[in-house]
Amino acid sequence: MIPMPSSTFPGLHSVLFASKEAAIAHQDVISDNPKLFSDLITAISYVLDVQEDPRLFHAWRVAAVAAAMAEHILPGNVAEVFYAGLLHDVGGMGAFSHIIHYPTLYSQLLRPEVVNHPERGKEIIQGIPGLELCADFVAEHHEWYNGSGYPYRKAGGDIAPGAQLIRIADSIDLSRRFRPEVQPEDTAIIVQTVSGLEISPEVAEAFRLVISSEEFYRELVDDSRLYGLIERFESSTSTPIFPPNSDAVSTVLTVFARVVDSKHGFTAGHSERVSQYSVEISRAMGLSHVEVTKVKYAGLLHDAGKVAVPRSIIDKPGPLVGSEIVRVKYHPVLTMDILRNIAHLSELAWIAGHHHERWDGMGYPDGLRGEEIPLLSRILAVADALDAITSPRAYKEKRTPAEALQILHEEAGSQFDPQVVDAAHSVWGSGRLARAA
Ligand SMILES: [Fe+2]
Ligand SMILES: [Fe+2]
Ligand SMILES: [Fe+2]
Ligand SMILES: [Fe+2]
Repeated sequence: MIPMPSSTFPGLHSVLFASKEAAIAHQDVISDNPKLFSDLITAISYVLDVQEDPRLFHAWRVAAVAAAMAEHILPGNVAEVFYAGLLHDVGGMGAFSHIIHYPTLYSQLLRPEVVNHPERGKEIIQGIPGLELCADFVAEHHEWYNGSGYPYRKAGGDIAPGAQLIRIADSIDLSRRFRPEVQPEDTAIIVQTVSGLEISPEVAEAFRLVISSEEFYRELVDDSRLYGLIERFESSTSTPIFPPNSDAVSTVLTVFARVVDSKHGFTAGHSERVSQYSVEISRAMGLSHVEVTKVKYAGLLHDAGKVAVPRSIIDKPGPLVGSEIVRVKYHPVLTMDILRNIAHLSELAWIAGHHHERWDGMGYPDGLRGEEIPLLSRILAVADALDAITSPRAYKEKRTPAEALQILHEEAGSQFDPQVVDAAHSVWGSGRLARAA
């Protein structure tokens, strides 16, 4: 357990329970949460950087370099710099290309979605209790010391110091990506050339100190060792701990869901709707608040693994073939892998990872049958299908909720658990699903 001074992330401590019932349900799902916050943010930053293949690990490297520099010149804000580093490009989610594909300031200024990403990132992060200072660092991470950056054209000491650390860590990761042969001493020279232009001389000196550690550089550039570095910062920085409040977790999980859905044009809002439909169906089935909370969270996270499926496959205007089907069918497995690494969410990993199982045993990834499939996964399966059928896709028109329910009815007993389909019908009858759809 990582002790956290309450002053570090005061916002987290000022949030009150949404309701006593929600708080109790939440505590039962996530009983002890010291690592939950850092694991979730780390997972979001990982998912952001999965651009099909390869995994870029850009956010992790920026966070590690910026936090290591903060230990030298901003020791009171290492945690904020670290989390801001992990999330610095979250405002770029949904952009056609990952933000790192625009290496020069000139090429960035030509793209509105690039110019807007710091402010968009600030808005997203501000919504997470406890990350207010991180939001400021993110908003200014493309400001230049000489005033030529964006979006505010701030200069010199007007720029938040944490933002300057992220600025140079970001620049160096880009130059290393485009010139992999770059050595630590080369990066120190590059940084000297931008000292006084892109960053302050003090920040340039902090970078020189950090990069002079050969061991640090080796861990930084080796994909297989990088997570160890991230874990070290996770445990050495003061970690915000969620209060026993479902709203704080829901907020972060909703950001997670939006990052996942933003990877594919046709899936905007999908995970939030699946979560919402699953909650309605499980309430109609009389499940406990604990179970309803689990399915709510699992719904938000169920397609996390889809970030590794290429856009060309998800958005393909026509049926999938051979290797494309294999790639798509792998996504629940990757969902499980991602969620298993998040403290206290391992049970959700199993539930979320089985949302494509079928009642007749013909689903994937494990071919579970009937009640072998967790009930909450069976609920997710129905909610997932309801949203897929009622949303427009690349190659078909969307259907009405009534048509969707008819299709579910036809598939009850083969694809879906008939009890869950009945519950979806009763929710439809009450009008709640109609509003949601
Ligand atoms: Fe950026
Ligand atoms: Fe970046
Ligand atoms: Fe899925
Ligand atoms: Fe889905």
